Amino acid sequence: MTETNRKLLDFIDASPTAWHACANLAKRLQSDGYQELFETDRWSLCPGGKYFARRNGTSLIAFRIPRGDFHGFLMMAAHDDSPSFKLRAKPDAPSAGYYTRLSVERYGSMLCAPWLDRPLSVAGRVTVRENGKLTVKLINIQRDLLVIPNLAIHMDRTANDGKKYDIKTDMLPLFGSEKAAGRLEVLVAEAAGVKPEDVVSTDLYLYPRTPGVVFGADEEFIAAPRLDDLQCAFGCMEGFLAAGEGKNAPLLCIFDNEEVGSTTKQGANSDFLVDTLWRICEALGRNFYRSAAASFMASADNAHAVHPNHPEFADSQDRPRINGGIVIKHHANQKYTTDAVTEAVFAEICRKAGVPVQHYSNRADLRGGTTLGNISTAHVSVDSVDIGLPQLAMHSCYETAGSEDTAYLIRAAKAYYECAYCHTAEGIEL
Ligand code: CO
Repeated sequence: MTETNRKLLDFIDASPTAWHACANLAKRLQSDGYQELFETDRWSLCPGGKYFARRNGTSLIAFRIPRGDFHGFLMMAAHDDSPSFKLRAKPDAPSAGYYTRLSVERYGSMLCAPWLDRPLSVAGRVTVRENGKLTVKLINIQRDLLVIPNLAIHMDRTANDGKKYDIKTDMLPLFGSEKAAGRLEVLVAEAAGVKPEDVVSTDLYLYPRTPGVVFGADEEFIAAPRLDDLQCAFGCMEGFLAAGEGKNAPLLCIFDNEEVGSTTKQGANSDFLVDTLWRICEALGRNFYRSAAASFMASADNAHAVHPNHPEFADSQDRPRINGGIVIKHHANQKYTTDAVTEAVFAEICRKAGVPVQHYSNRADLRGGTTLGNISTAHVSVDSVDIGLPQLAMHSCYETAGSEDTAYLIRAAKAYYECAYCHTAEGIEL
């Protein structure tokens, strides 16, 4: 396995929820000398400085201030949440006079079937009473704790004819016998290092325990949970950190809640990015409007590769293939922000960096998904391109992508952050 894939899988494995992903990215930034800024403080920024800010512990914006004068901001965005099942505050759900299941609610729109018959556990954040204060802790119960069992084929002969999943009955994970009632609270408290009565509230989610692998005749593929969009979050971060100084300020946004429409205080549909840009400009005595007008956004969220068993669902031309490089996404009605100018900018950067690009648009009669780009640019209206890496089985809890594509994204992101992007009436310099 390449070092890039090893690091990607380690990151995914250590990031069962958006809180963990954001904490791991923050740790990576801190170890690289980035200073954390808090939104409640006054920001004083210096040329050559490296900073990041977090909101809710699940969204993060990192940036560097160039030493010399700069044009605008070169931004990338990805998301750190994935579809999952959220546990209710009192999760015990007894069944059949013998079992204890856990009661869950859907977060985002997942493929349900892959969650069945595989080991799962619980991770997230809890608020606890400690030393007379409320404190927030991240927890991960690191053991095989739960399975959502299928119904036997003998009891449901139509199971292979197209199954409809009812979250309230079909998707409750099995936790134990009747004696397990109340045990989850104990395990959660243990993981948080407090007494059960000191756990005040929880944001806890199921996650699959199956570790990521590289597979295929020539190890062409990588399979893991949450590749959408931790593969892009990881690739953008690595490229951001590796980039040398260019003529713009590099900025990376990792947003939570993309899977539920981004409309939260920390999502792409919030003021987090615009506030951060304002505060950077204010601290440096720059004009916000002129800086924004000189900026560019590349929104990175995974894309659908042509499917081996169902190529008919892909467009006949714009059908990305695994390990074919960066996907540029197009949508005539602008669900994807790409236009001829922004496509050319990003494709040209990739061409110069020796990174292959390919194109995606939805089959004309299919409604695609939404992503971050057009939500984010509604708040900060800059030139923007939607990109991603090709993958299969999007929103399964175990997705498949290319073993070479992450390295392409890192190389493209590095080249993007280093480029001399300057868009004037005479043309676009890169
Ligand atoms: Co996504």
